[in-house]
Amino acid sequence: MSVVRFGVSLETEIMSELDEYVNVNRFPNRSQAIRSLVEKYGVEKKWQCDNEVAGAIVVVYNHHKRDINTKLNDIQHHHQPLILSVQHVHLDHENCLETIAVKGKAKELTQLADKIITLKGVHHGKLVMTRT
Ligand code: NI
Repeated sequence: MSVVRFGVSLETEIMSELDEYVNVNRFPNRSQAIRSLVEKYGVEKKWQCDNEVAGAIVVVYNHHKRDINTKLNDIQHHHQPLILSVQHVHLDHENCLETIAVKGKAKELTQLADKIITLKGVHHGKLVMTRT
């Protein structure tokens, strides 16, 4: 990919915010920070669109956490048209790994994944999507 240089004019407050972003994320320079922000915007746009996509929500959670199995089950039944299959693996005494295959509009899958991943007791969660 070829690199293009361009000048940027920013208010001092915005520049301070940008420098903070550079420091917090340990970017070597402002260009890297701007690149990262634009990429994030691209991903966000892709994930919020009406495109039909397929993917998987993968979560690891502690099934001893109060009501988590019931809540997870309720959410999945509520969004049943989006869900193709669910694989549940008992990892150890307390942890479960669930892989939920999904298909639908990107923004609907993103909302569904957010609901699941933010449940109390979920250690890790990730949604991967690809165009169908
Ligand atoms: Ni289990």
